[in-house]
Amino acid sequence: VEEEAEAPKEEKSGNDKLVVGFAQIGQESGWRDAETASIQFYAGQNVDTIDLKFADAQQKQENQIKAIKSFIEMGVDVIGLAPVVETGWDAVFTEAKDAGIPIVLVDRMAKVDESLYSTFIGSDFIEEGKNAAIEMATLLGDEGKIVELEGTVGASAANDRKKGFDDEIAANHPNIEILESQTGDFTRAKGKEVMESFLKTYGSDIKGVYAHNDDMMLGAIEAIKEAGLKPGVDIKTVSVDGVKGIFEAMAAGEANVTVECNPLLGEQFFDTCRKLKAGETVDKWIKSEEGIYRQETAADDLPNRKY
Ligand code: AHR
Repeated sequence: VEEEAEAPKEEKSGNDKLVVGFAQIGQESGWRDAETASIQFYAGQNVDTIDLKFADAQQKQENQIKAIKSFIEMGVDVIGLAPVVETGWDAVFTEAKDAGIPIVLVDRMAKVDESLYSTFIGSDFIEEGKNAAIEMATLLGDEGKIVELEGTVGASAANDRKKGFDDEIAANHPNIEILESQTGDFTRAKGKEVMESFLKTYGSDIKGVYAHNDDMMLGAIEAIKEAGLKPGVDIKTVSVDGVKGIFEAMAAGEANVTVECNPLLGEQFFDTCRKLKAGETVDKWIKSEEGIYRQETAADDLPNRKY
């Protein structure tokens, strides 16, 4: 008896591979470059089974929206997005949903109805901000004036890291005063520029600086040195990410603490995409596990850092 040949499975994209569109924010920080590398490396290693369509939005939401629309037109299996800002996604996510394409939020959240995305893979930014505040309080003996360098206006990473930090200071550290808080857009150049202006206004009254990412802190460290002060000593530093540059600064005694945020999400992202294509359900929040790193162990930690 002749066996019936199994009909080839009809893929949405007409492609046997897992076809994934990823709309990246841009290249604003070392952290983001590490995330991009992680996603592209994993796709490259699995080129027989994964077809990655990658778009760099150059920090613009409108470019991310355009990329998502073109992924919908291509009929990809899954769309991945690191949303530059939290709001303004409802219409394009609804288009994806109507086309039957799941959305996976990677590293940053979007403020939309839960039904419009499948899962969020990333960190608890509020917790990171809270941990940063506790570290700052310890460094300052629970007393002193500080400044804050915020990330991109409207980004979940900036909103939540600010909330977690400011709430913890307000609730439990009444003798720590936040003199001023301004955006440095998650970039080293802007972090330096804003720190220069804080130093002009408040001078040596500043005893600590909290930056929503390490790149801004690396810029701030340059500004502090140029002002004739010692970063890590005269002005204590706490930032978020855990990139190699901040470990080098900590090992050199020029930075104090980094609260880790993991950008190496490539494997988790594609595993999730595979599950979604297969119709499996996934957790609504796939949370990253992260540590806190301090100056004391930075020289030993540095050789083990992967980004
Ligand atoms: O969304 C994560 C944040 O975005 C990282 O902390 C930062 O470096 C990046 O630009």
